[in-house]
Amino acid sequence: MDVVITGSTRGLGKALMAELQARGHNVRGCSRDSLDVRDFPALEAFARDPCDLLVANAAVALPSTRLWELEPAHFGALIDTNVKGVFHSLRAFLPAMVERKSGVVAVMSSDWGRSASALVAAYCASKWALEGMVRALSRELPMGVAAVLVDPGNVNTDMLKLALGEELAARYPGPAEWASLAAPQLESLGPEHNGRTLRIVDRS
Ligand SMILES: NC(=O)c1ccc[n+]([C@@H]2O[C@H](COP(=O)([O-])OP(=O)(O)OC[C@H]3O[C@@H](n4cnc5c(N)ncnc54)[C@H](OP(=O)(O)O)[C@@H]3O)[C@@H](O)[C@H]2O)c1
Repeated sequence: MDVVITGSTRGLGKALMAELQARGHNVRGCSRDSLDVRDFPALEAFARDPCDLLVANAAVALPSTRLWELEPAHFGALIDTNVKGVFHSLRAFLPAMVERKSGVVAVMSSDWGRSASALVAAYCASKWALEGMVRALSRELPMGVAAVLVDPGNVNTDMLKLALGEELAARYPGPAEWASLAAPQLESLGPEHNGRTLRIVDRS
């Protein structure tokens, strides 16, 4: 299977890329250095090679801050990556999938796409936006194409360390263990999963 993962240099994206490659898939990835998801023309060029599975994973978080103290530029940069970057990725890769009536887009959401906590309002706003965008998209797609939300659970990555601190983050599985659970679920996604949410790791 041909797979594209945005944000594949660290954390979940990097581990997922390694796991899917080990399982025999052809995986391409990107990061800010190689292809910034905020740059739609660059993504369009990247999407000239179509894929069977797009994992829209790239995202950023901010240090814990009260909303009214957040720098407007930092809020804007987060939305540019986490919401507009995902839209750009879908906009670049979906037309070919829709044309051939085959393909899956998996969008990395979060528990904070359906719940809220203090000090992470911008991140919550971005993931709630994705939940709405992908649920609406799933109602637009033709038979054969699926849009799926992924709630990865808590995984000990740079992003979780930023959100919870190193000590708390260390209580959760690492990215390689997570990827060994996520890869089989992602590779078995098909049209019948359109509109669903995949939960990879239970938080309880
Ligand atoms: N870890 C968790 O517990 C957890 C929980 C819920 C949801 N998630 C979600 O899971 C996904 C992966 O999270 P993670 O923990 O693996 O985060 P991470 O360790 O911070 O990795 C994020 C990846 O995204 C890339 N990236 C950031 N901005 C980008 C941009 N503008 N263009 C292209 N690539 C960009 C980063 O690469 P560079 O910095 O090199 O550009 C990096 O490879 C995110 O969507 C996150 O919101 C994670």
